[in-house]
Amino acid sequence: MKNTVTTLQKMKQEGQKISMLTCYDYTTACLIEEAQINAVLVGDSLGMTMMGYPDTLSVTMEDMIHHTACVSRGLHDTFLVADMPFLSYQTSVYDAVKNAGRLIKEGHAQAVKLEGGATVCEQIEAIVKADIPVVAHIGLTPQSIHAFGGFKVQGKNEQRALQILEDAKAVERAGAFMVTLECVPDELATLISQELSIPTIGIGAGNGCDGQVLVYQDMLNMFSGIKPKFVKHFANIGEEMKRAFRAYDEEVKAKTFPAAEHNFAIDPEIIQAVKE
Ligand code: KIV
Ligand code: NA
Repeated sequence: MKNTVTTLQKMKQEGQKISMLTCYDYTTACLIEEAQINAVLVGDSLGMTMMGYPDTLSVTMEDMIHHTACVSRGLHDTFLVADMPFLSYQTSVYDAVKNAGRLIKEGHAQAVKLEGGATVCEQIEAIVKADIPVVAHIGLTPQSIHAFGGFKVQGKNEQRALQILEDAKAVERAGAFMVTLECVPDELATLISQELSIPTIGIGAGNGCDGQVLVYQDMLNMFSGIKPKFVKHFANIGEEMKRAFRAYDEEVKAKTFPAAEHNFAIDPEIIQAVKE
């Protein structure tokens, strides 16, 4: 079944949960498609996962278009959302529509995602008017890292909790067809999910959301080091890759790879002629 804006919204109405993963390349896109995940997000988290930056702020439109186009070639039924990077929509409504359009036209995304609530509603309205579906992203918005003073759970006090609820309602009113809730307390995310008619996609936001998203390198345990509280390791691919890399290194050095079965044959008469 092909996932669309309509089918994703219908899943919420029918109480079916939506699965989403980040994706940044063709090979992984093919695997995610075969696993029948509902949607992928080419997140600006690629700044960290694919480019090694400490945060998402340096990611450019060119980076996003490049990775989105790669992912699009591996997908068929899985719905493709691309993140709008830092300063591609905050600067003006004009920039927002133009850059959203580039992610569709050049990246072949089916929807764009941008961070912020009430403050970006003008941009959401304008992008939706251009017939580009918008996913909003509220709670912890990593592009605001310096304003927040770090990556922290959002909505623990009454004022901020109310603000997040208001942001959720505002982005729905502005025309967003889905909203990401990042690092908000479980019960607040559940309340928002009940109040909204559009699906909520949680990351660090509990089980009451209408769907979930995870960064695939996180859920596959491909990073050694810190594990955020909300991440679950569904496999240990990082260890498995290192094991294979080490085995390869050992076999190359022990001259056991390549073996006879990996070699290309040549007619003995030809090699004799070449030698002479
Ligand atoms: O960039 C990203 O990966 C995201 C998800 C974590 C929601 O925005
Ligand atoms: Na993002």
